[in-house]
Amino acid sequence: MTKLALIVAMDEARGIGKNNDLMWNLPNDMKFFKEMTNGQIVVMGRKNYDSIPERFRPLPNRENCVITRNPTIEAPGCKVFHDLHECIDAYSNDERTLFIIGGGEIYRLALETLALDELYITAIDHTFGADTFLHEFDETPWKKTSIQTQIPDERHAFGFTIYKYFK
Ligand SMILES: NC(=O)c1ccc[n+]([C@@H]2O[C@H](COP(=O)([O-])OP(=O)(O)OC[C@H]3O[C@@H](n4cnc5c(N)ncnc54)[C@H](OP(=O)(O)O)[C@@H]3O)[C@@H](O)[C@H]2O)c1
Repeated sequence: MTKLALIVAMDEARGIGKNNDLMWNLPNDMKFFKEMTNGQIVVMGRKNYDSIPERFRPLPNRENCVITRNPTIEAPGCKVFHDLHECIDAYSNDERTLFIIGGGEIYRLALETLALDELYITAIDHTFGADTFLHEFDETPWKKTSIQTQIPDERHAFGFTIYKYFK
């Protein structure tokens, strides 16, 4: 059975994006994302897919899945699904971990309707004025541990802590 995980970076107001883009450049968080999802399955909403520059998609060395209601959308190199659960079912016997990689609508759908095994949440020490947010979820069933901390430096204008949530 495939493991279901969600990976997100958010600011102090739970902001995750603005104008269909990220609001920060944090190389060590990007490195963490790449390392975690390398060789795995990544599932994204159509708007998140659109936000990735064409030259970077599909994300390399990962199986890319795009969720859309639009029956005519093409996403070269990606698998397109019209329902998140159909997508999860398609990989239910896969050895790889399936990562929900956003954006806001898909995170919300995943947090409300999937039996997620792990969450990786980067908490950035700043508020950016986002227009898209990580939906609040009940943290009660989760254990939480911090796995990486970054202090501001010449490559990182903002510090952050990466938390792993598990059951
Ligand atoms: N900080 C982070 O870690 C992070 C990660 C990823 C993205 N982001 C940011 O998040 C923002 C994008 O998020 P978003 O909430 O606007 O969009 P999104 O979740 O990426 O995509 C929304 C789209 O997904 C499809 N969709 C949603 N629910 C569906 C359902 N039940 N069935 C089938 N398809 C469904 C629809 O596509 P159609 O309209 O084509 O039908 C919908 O318009 C951007 O600013 C991006 O930079 C941040």
